[in-house]
Amino acid sequence: MIKTHSSHLPVVDFAIIGAGLAGLTLALRLAEHGRVALFAKGPLTHGSSFYAQGGIAAVLEGEDSFAAHIHDTLAAGAGLCHEDAVQFVVERAPSAIRWLVERGVPFTAENGHYHLTREGGHSHRRVIHAADATGRAVETTLAALARAHPRIEILEDHIAVDLVTAHKLGRTGPNRCLGLYVYSKTTGHVVPYPARLTALATGGASKAYLYSSNPDTSTGDGIAMAWRAGCRVANLEFVQFHPTCLYHPQAKSFLISEAVRGEGGHLLLPDGTRFMPHYDPRAELAPRDIVARAIDNEMKRHGLDAVGLDISHKGRGFIEEHFPNIYERCLGFGYDMAKAPIPVVPAAHYTCGGIMTDLKGRTDLSGLYAVGECAFTGLHGANRLASNSLLECLVLGQAAADDAAQRLAGAPCPAPLPPWDESRVTDADERVVVSHNWEELRRFMWDYVGIVRTNKRLERARHRVKLLREEIFEYYAHFRVSNDLIELRNLVQVAELIIRSAQLRTESRGLHYSRDYPELDTVHAVRDTVLTPPYYAAALETPGGSWG
Ligand code: FAD
Ligand code: SIN
Repeated sequence: MIKTHSSHLPVVDFAIIGAGLAGLTLALRLAEHGRVALFAKGPLTHGSSFYAQGGIAAVLEGEDSFAAHIHDTLAAGAGLCHEDAVQFVVERAPSAIRWLVERGVPFTAENGHYHLTREGGHSHRRVIHAADATGRAVETTLAALARAHPRIEILEDHIAVDLVTAHKLGRTGPNRCLGLYVYSKTTGHVVPYPARLTALATGGASKAYLYSSNPDTSTGDGIAMAWRAGCRVANLEFVQFHPTCLYHPQAKSFLISEAVRGEGGHLLLPDGTRFMPHYDPRAELAPRDIVARAIDNEMKRHGLDAVGLDISHKGRGFIEEHFPNIYERCLGFGYDMAKAPIPVVPAAHYTCGGIMTDLKGRTDLSGLYAVGECAFTGLHGANRLASNSLLECLVLGQAAADDAAQRLAGAPCPAPLPPWDESRVTDADERVVVSHNWEELRRFMWDYVGIVRTNKRLERARHRVKLLREEIFEYYAHFRVSNDLIELRNLVQVAELIIRSAQLRTESRGLHYSRDYPELDTVHAVRDTVLTPPYYAAALETPGGSWG
């Protein structure tokens, strides 16, 4: 029986894939200009943004300055930040925060002022926050506004499978994005969803690693979809490992915010000695790459499962007031932060590279934007400064929305898209293959493409990912799609791109540390690792150049 599924859906003005801070910012701003369809893989707020703890970096008080925020971002980025992107984002931070305040986000205040916390790599207190659950406050506030907006259609439990482009459909004329194919978890079917303009806001790919601070949504879907649609990606070797996730079998790498170290927490060996002052003069407040590598080194040197993070000296009252969420979660796992150090380990946390965009969020493919963790704007360089990520979602979300609103009038209404063809696939008979491949992929990425890399380990990873990719792609071609299969296909693609990028960087810089090349490469100077897909959307010289 031939089964095809068509949608007969009306063409929307803007299709936004992802409902984290990037997606919600886009949706709320674009709804002022047209009809928006907002897709989320699961419940609306389930993404990294919801779990963000520390806060959002912005220059908000007199002693601080844009110059200092720019300097700190560039220093963390180890020579690879694009200075125009850094300046663009830093200077727009205060107004982005004002936008959130006006929408009702309840940031923590003290004595009539917003309380600003400190995090690693920041020379000033400049992180505005809502206690230790900033993401929850921001996401629930914006999600409520999106749900109430008459021009935003919310499609939860809808997973984008692939982007539709004019050239993929064999249509003549200039290539552009025409919308997407979406799998509905409710109906089990894939339908085409045409849109005049489309935006990827799908978050990062940290689930490529066995241990990660991220929710299950971070499977690199947007990066893989953009790659398949012909967009270039950059700097995917720079995977940020957060130094301090709770070490407990049931904790699923629960994050212990950097703000705990910012407010005076110390990292300790089992005998109570501090080790960070031996690694960096900034000790526990050095940038994340330095702290994560130091912890990794101490764990290997002493054969430890975890190191201790101690803030008990600040007293129970202080801890309960500043870290109510973390304190409660730790108590639930049997650790009282007010009495003793808690065990912590590093875990994959943030994807610094991604889909190449300009400072309007435009990708290589006309009609397609990318914003947030899935995008590469050049802001983070070789290592992201803490709390600059939510900020990037807000600033680039606004910039992309402004551009898309202007372009709407000239964006053609796509002709109906062909239905999804399931005539050559059957129901999967080997579910176990998917779960085993998933486990294998995440384990070898952790073992071979982790905090410390070598040529030999990367070569082993390359060999394994090649075999796995072939098996998964073949499986995808023959069996009906499912949530897990869509994610696994994307994850193996992004893992392959991470490995390839890591092999191309023959130096140690920021988050990429290789024992075979322990120094900075000063001969070939500073360069991004840009990968060009087999079918490069525009075949043009510059990102966004295809937009006319
Ligand atoms: P996300 O918030 O991850 O949202 C992705 C969205 O895309 C989700 O809605 C998901 O369902 C959807 N999606 C993905 N794939 C598909 C698909 N195929 N189809 C449909 N929908 C899809 N950064 C800071 O600046 N400050 C912090 O304090 C901070 N704390 C953090 C704490 C934790 C525990 C974590 C994990 C991250 C933290 N970060 C922090 C990083 C920051 O939260 C993320 O980088 C940022 O939230 C990413 O936002 P986003 O909108 O790009 O993606
Ligand atoms: C944290 O609270 O430590 C996370 C901050 C970030 O990832 O920017």
